[in-house]
Amino acid sequence: MTIYLNGEFMPIAEAKVSVLDRGFIFGDGVYEVIPVYSRKAFRLPEHLRRLQHSLDGIKLPNPHSEAEWTHIVEEIIARNEGEDQYLYLHITRGAAKRDHAFPNPPVPPTVFAMTSPLPAPPAELLASGVCCVTAEDNRWLRCDIKSISLLPNVLLRQMAVEAGCAETILIRDNEFMTEGAASNIFVVKNGKLLAPPKDNLMLPGITYDVILEIAAANGIPCEVRRVMKEEVFAADELLLTSSTKEVLAITHVDGKPVGTGKPGAMFARLYQLYQDFKR
Ligand code: PDD
Repeated sequence: MTIYLNGEFMPIAEAKVSVLDRGFIFGDGVYEVIPVYSRKAFRLPEHLRRLQHSLDGIKLPNPHSEAEWTHIVEEIIARNEGEDQYLYLHITRGAAKRDHAFPNPPVPPTVFAMTSPLPAPPAELLASGVCCVTAEDNRWLRCDIKSISLLPNVLLRQMAVEAGCAETILIRDNEFMTEGAASNIFVVKNGKLLAPPKDNLMLPGITYDVILEIAAANGIPCEVRRVMKEEVFAADELLLTSSTKEVLAITHVDGKPVGTGKPGAMFARLYQLYQDFKR
């Protein structure tokens, strides 16, 4: 596997980062995950725009122009195998003497990119859907930043795994749904798609945007507004989206069936529309 680190392409085994790197010490950095379909990065400008938003959010100058990022992305895809891949981009505030405040003068950021094969979701997962648990959203108030400080997300996802499930649906203030530990969540009720608004309490998902675009283009009614906890439990269908999972049906929550307990008509429609759209 060939990765990119600070201006060079190299085998992953040769890649080295200082133990003083602020990503390692403080989780002081941001990242992106971008799907690659048929060896072409999907929605790259949108992902690079979100990366800029994350960098702005942590006051870290963007080390590369859009053209430079595009070159890095195309090169790393070319140097690795697999028709479908997922790209990981990671920028930290660099290596400096340990001090919470930003290094002054600034040090060069650490820029890392790698790509891995992206397997299609197994047919049985599409047929049966996935189960989720719910938990209080105990993260910070800048969930719109794609921060590499993922400890809350790690612990929340682990809750799902320990319950034999795929994802944890996050409920803020015991009141409303924000997203999943590493995904966005949609509620389907009476043929309508309900989506939480893109604010500081959730990551503005690129797949989330694609789903809303596809829905609008195909006459599927959508409402973007706060989605209450009760609406999650009373949903006809629940959908999970992310760059690596595309769209999945959530068929059980906290051990109880969602609607019929089987993937529904809205899932089937959006899944097919997404497949057509991504190629
Ligand atoms: N995670 N919300 C959170 C907290 C996420 O971490 C992700 C994606 C999403 C979905 O966003 P998108 O559609 O742009 O992938 C929502 C990636 C896949 C990850 O951390 O691996």
